[in-house]
Amino acid sequence: MEILGNDQHKIIFGDTLVALAALPDNSIDLIFADPPYNIGKNFSGQRDKWDTDEDYLNWCYKWLDLCVQKMKTNGSFYVMTATQFMPFFDIYLSKKLYILSRIVWHYDSSGVQAKKYYGSMYEPILFCVKDKENYTFNTEEILVEAKTGATRKLIDYRKDPPQVYNYEKVPGNVWEFPRVRYRMEEYENHPTQKPIALLDRIIKASSNVGDLVLDPFSGTFTTCFVAKESGRNSIGIELQEEYVKIGLRRLKLAKEYKGEKLKKEIRSFETRKIAAVQNLKLFEESDGTFIHS
Ligand SMILES: C[S@@+](CC[C@H](N)C(=O)[O-])C[C@H]1O[C@@H](n2cnc3c(N)ncnc32)[C@H](O)[C@@H]1O
Repeated sequence: MEILGNDQHKIIFGDTLVALAALPDNSIDLIFADPPYNIGKNFSGQRDKWDTDEDYLNWCYKWLDLCVQKMKTNGSFYVMTATQFMPFFDIYLSKKLYILSRIVWHYDSSGVQAKKYYGSMYEPILFCVKDKENYTFNTEEILVEAKTGATRKLIDYRKDPPQVYNYEKVPGNVWEFPRVRYRMEEYENHPTQKPIALLDRIIKASSNVGDLVLDPFSGTFTTCFVAKESGRNSIGIELQEEYVKIGLRRLKLAKEYKGEKLKKEIRSFETRKIAAVQNLKLFEESDGTFIHS
């Protein structure tokens, strides 16, 4: 296990069970956990597939227990997994925490088209707290447009003078955010990167400036990146060195790692753009009369 970064933003390169156990109990304000889903993804060479579903769940129960132990008494815990495993998480966690929301992250998955059954268009998220009378929830930070009132300009005629009502509301439990696509600015080379917008809502709602946010399966370190952008402190744990390097770069914690310059991978369409610009330059150099349009 290796600890990188600084006092505000720590990256722990190692196994989450070991790293979590080493953290002080009751020390984290907000945990967001997006583990491997046991569906066969390739995480930098490691296959996300356990021998049996029971093996997967037994492994999950261990880190779920540690997360509960590390949360402050007024802390919050958001956890994801595949739709087929979420009922087990729900039953397991409901004995230890209060589950306040069962969130559906819905996206348009037009690229993945099931032909003989209904294609998957969502991922579930549980939002849990230790004490349902005492937890952070910054309503004002996450308000969305209330479609019935604001968009349709519904008027409350009982008011004098009549007023348009319900401009804004707390989001419901179906959240619509696009998945991270190859051409998006935030894209990193990782098979299950979560969008900044999703973490922005979670972090703003369930933590305050200066709070400590933990992500036990950091991947591209979206959680820690958003935590930093919004003035929180963060701890991110990740097993794969390639992803640790993404985290160090994304959080601007290092320019180099083991002598290697940390640079964002150039995407194919960017290579083509660079080549086109270079060709233009060559053309311009060989012909002084060339004028940019
Ligand atoms: C679903 S991805 C997380 C993606 C992340 N939320 C993001 O936005 O990029 C799960 C991550 O957990 C990492 N991982 C798997 N097993 C781990 C372990 N035992 N300890 C720490 N990290 C692990 C994988 O390498 C992978 O990057």
